[in-house]
Amino acid sequence: CGIVGYLGRDNATPVLINGLKHLEYRGYDSAGIAVFNGDHIEVVKAKGRLANLEERLEGREVAGHLGIGHTRWATHGEPSDINSHPHTDVKGEIAIVHNGIIENYAELKAWLMDKGCQFVSETDTEVVAHMLNQYYTGDMKDTLFKVLPKLRGSFALGIIVKSQPDTLYCARKDSPLVVGAGEDGTKYIASDIPAILEYTRDIYLMDNGEIGVLKTDGVTFYDEFGTVVSKEIMHVDWDIKSAEKGGYAHFMIKEIHEQPAALRDTMSPHVDPENYTIRQQEMPLTREQVEDIAGITILACGTAYHAGMVGKWLFEAMARIPVEVDIASEFRYRDPIIRPGTLCIIISQSGETADTIAAMREAKRQGARILAITNVVGSTIAREADQVIYTWAGPEIAVASTKAYVSQVMVLTILAADIAHKRGRMSDEELRDYVKELLTIPDKAAKVLEMNSEIQRFAHKHFDKRSVFYLGRGLDYALALEASLKLKEISYIHSEAYAAGELKHGTIALIEPGTLVVSLVTQSKVIEKTISNIIEVKVRGAETLAVAFEGDTKAREEVKYLFTVPKTSDLFAPMLAIIPMQMLAYYMALEKGCDIDKPRNLAKSVTVE
Ligand code: G6P
Repeated sequence: CGIVGYLGRDNATPVLINGLKHLEYRGYDSAGIAVFNGDHIEVVKAKGRLANLEERLEGREVAGHLGIGHTRWATHGEPSDINSHPHTDVKGEIAIVHNGIIENYAELKAWLMDKGCQFVSETDTEVVAHMLNQYYTGDMKDTLFKVLPKLRGSFALGIIVKSQPDTLYCARKDSPLVVGAGEDGTKYIASDIPAILEYTRDIYLMDNGEIGVLKTDGVTFYDEFGTVVSKEIMHVDWDIKSAEKGGYAHFMIKEIHEQPAALRDTMSPHVDPENYTIRQQEMPLTREQVEDIAGITILACGTAYHAGMVGKWLFEAMARIPVEVDIASEFRYRDPIIRPGTLCIIISQSGETADTIAAMREAKRQGARILAITNVVGSTIAREADQVIYTWAGPEIAVASTKAYVSQVMVLTILAADIAHKRGRMSDEELRDYVKELLTIPDKAAKVLEMNSEIQRFAHKHFDKRSVFYLGRGLDYALALEASLKLKEISYIHSEAYAAGELKHGTIALIEPGTLVVSLVTQSKVIEKTISNIIEVKVRGAETLAVAFEGDTKAREEVKYLFTVPKTSDLFAPMLAIIPMQMLAYYMALEKGCDIDKPRNLAKSVTVE
């Protein structure tokens, strides 16, 4: 989602609309503005592209010196006029825009409803508007200090209040927000710099837990304890295009770097970090439903299918449930058999892939219970499935999927443990250890990103390869498939992934001196087996690269190049080991000068069969 806010001498409306235009790339299922017109706060919002909002504003005089705007990418509540931001309290005297997710919104909503609050939308954001009204003291800054500690989750907030028309308020926690200072005391807020870059290049970066109080004669920042924080202005000299990418050269590398946050956001609604348990609130299956599962069928396309391969491995190993994983386009035309008691898991970033939708409908027709894992709230798959678990990866713009993949794997990793635990295959204690280690994954993923320059150097040396092979066993094989897809998608280098044990049945004929063979060796049970395969290609002249855990000694001895990722449970390896592989694909493509975000012949969402 995107946030913009304005306080100054001019009319806020055109500034807000223009700001939102620069944020539309972040999500566009609805947009809205709230402007204080000197008498009351006027809110105008519309489902769909920004053009719909502009149409709605035509011929209407929505003008004032203070306003906030939002472009939404739905989280709680499907895209609709009502669910669009800004949201207000009952009297319409406080208006807010919000990015992020309020995890405890259901509890807060119940409390507010008890107090007689009437809700008009399904959003978590509206809860915040009512909370601010409940605790309003006449001063929004003090009110924020009361309310913000009660919110769990992430937020960037822009707030205007009818009774304080000379002030624009903002606050952030785990969701970005900046403040801009323009000419004549004009102030801006934005979730992303491009929204306000046309108006100012003088930016304050807000830190976690901070509150900003913006007036024309100055800005004051407070930390969560109420202490005034002094901040330096940062002068931004990016052009708009690179600002949209957060200063990165491409969306793909930006999204690769967003993976620690995506993993955290996907994990946190489901995991209790104090008791190391799985929160049941948003887990779709009851114990009885889990006991009734006779088998699981996973259906998906592309990268989502590769996440499904990881899922198969986890469900079988941990929950001992037989799993079939199928390419959606194969499933739908095969006259497939769905046995009674089948749980069908549909994985799709967009929720709109035509083949996946058709496969889902076929499975449903045959009586399977449908559980969707998708990134897009309100998408066709989310609407038609019996149950949904969302990956909170945020909008993914690059065609080659990165952060959506790790988020899908994160959901499967949690779901597998939940099912295993409910079926008595995992003790409370085992689950505790599992969750405890899972909680370290986002930070470990951030650690992997530090390998950036090492991988860049490797790519510089090897980007002229005609063909690259990826090998792995078990989870490493699932990973090899995704690593290979990434490379071929964006660098156009021919590549194949093979189950390492299958090598000798044909592929080895293709190995010649100088062929690059990348091996994934994170699975302790089969490391030695894969290493034997590495030796087989090495003696035939292949150049060898392996991805292993830090502390590995076995692979290191046999390969020419080694990338290591922080040690974790073998079960969690895919979420870390894929990252250097994504970076490798990215830098190989960069060296070759490819159109990385929009690779030839590919589409982000394939809505035709
Ligand atoms: C396209 C994209 C892939 C994606 C696949 C499935 O081929 O280029 O990156 O994995 O569709 O998309 P979905 O939205 O269903 O996950």
